[in-house]
Amino acid sequence: MNASVIRNGRVITASDDFTADVLMQGGVVRAIGLQLEVGPEVAEFDATGLYVLPGGVDTHVHMENVIGPTITCDTFASGTRAAAFGGTTTVVDFALQTAEDSVLGAIARAQRSAEPQVNIDYSLHCIVTHVDKPVLADVRHAMRHEGVSSFKMFMAYPGVMMADDAAIFRMLRQVGADGGMVALHAENGTVIDLLIQEALEAGHTSPRYHALTRPALMEGEATHRGIRLAELAEAPIYFVHVSSNQALKHIVAARDEGIPVFAETCPHYLLFDDAVYDNDDFETAKYVMTPPLRKPEDQKHLWRALRYDDLQVVATDHCPFCMKEGHLGYRLQKQRGKDDFSLIPNGAPGIETRMVSLFDIGVVQGRLSLNRFVQLTATTPAKLFGLFPKKGTIAVGSDADIVLFDPDATQTIHAHTLHSQCDYTLLEGHTLRGRVEKVFLRGQLIVDGPQWLGREGMGRFVPRGTVQAF
Ligand code: URP
Ligand code: ZN
Ligand code: ZN
Repeated sequence: MNASVIRNGRVITASDDFTADVLMQGGVVRAIGLQLEVGPEVAEFDATGLYVLPGGVDTHVHMENVIGPTITCDTFASGTRAAAFGGTTTVVDFALQTAEDSVLGAIARAQRSAEPQVNIDYSLHCIVTHVDKPVLADVRHAMRHEGVSSFKMFMAYPGVMMADDAAIFRMLRQVGADGGMVALHAENGTVIDLLIQEALEAGHTSPRYHALTRPALMEGEATHRGIRLAELAEAPIYFVHVSSNQALKHIVAARDEGIPVFAETCPHYLLFDDAVYDNDDFETAKYVMTPPLRKPEDQKHLWRALRYDDLQVVATDHCPFCMKEGHLGYRLQKQRGKDDFSLIPNGAPGIETRMVSLFDIGVVQGRLSLNRFVQLTATTPAKLFGLFPKKGTIAVGSDADIVLFDPDATQTIHAHTLHSQCDYTLLEGHTLRGRVEKVFLRGQLIVDGPQWLGREGMGRFVPRGTVQAF
């Protein structure tokens, strides 16, 4: 059985921080201790001066997702390779229920396309747009037999993915009772659509109007509504991509009342603010993601919530669309909205830079402890989505998904040296502290500095259990 030992690294988990050796065998962590004795057949890796971190768990990514008339530009192959280079070893992507595809059909379809391509382990949330009795039966079956225990619903995008309040309530009630999680995109979709129509009628076509027509107040209103639906359903709820204090204040109040509300934010909301929209250049389409970037004041609240556990997860919402036409055969992505901001596909890349950017702006800049960094990027997402302790920690018996991270190295980010198929990064030219040196997936070395040692199809679908929030 293949075995290797990582020597002398600083092992950091959500709760501990110590120097030790870690023995990996048969895909799992077999032993953790001082000066572990091993045979000559065991490969040795010296991690002196490096952090030994649990592989990152990114629970919000979009690979090959059909969103409106286009498709995200990372395949399961390119997106998971980029994730690995960034220190992430498990992702949770989406299967989309459509008029043609049932919940179970959507999950099977996403698995068929992911399976031969994935370079790291993966799972799926199912996006549910329509709810009736047969759908609820499928949802229960998916939870019990397919290892899919979370379902995303949208309060935005009317006519495309939006579900009404009753549908969301029905899902919350059943999924909550069965021990799963409903993840909610909270924005008031119909009011936002009205604002978009009015902006276009007034001749406002540039990307800045994407932000102006999606006010934080409407994120807050929908968040409040989602919380009340969850409260009535007596179910936990998870808010994706929280960007503003208008949303956060309802989350904080609900948690204070003892309602099981959980939420993520994304690195872009911490790194950038709405000053990027102060122009009419089409380049600004890079920042057209939903919700849009908010004010510096919102960032202060996001950091406070990250520190004090009102936000529990930093996920990427990696949703890449190319700026240039014809890039790698994907035609008309961001350019679709050249003359109409409402046609710009919403989303931005970020899968490879999540760990290092949060390390730099969080840990290096003194906002987060190392343990909190691990909690936010690996342990809590694994717990909230039923992956723990297989994923999200370094412990005897857990999968040997391990990152050797150099906290003193610096790197300058460029799209052409990242591994996504997206032709831009929001961090172009930014110099960050910290660098992923080696990545092990179930004990196999898949990233060694700039070298790729993984293989498409080596990732596995991870069936997930119930929410471990309490
Ligand atoms: O802009 C974004 N976030 N696009 C992806 C779809 C979603 O809402 O998560
Ligand atoms: Zn969303
Ligand atoms: Zn998303």
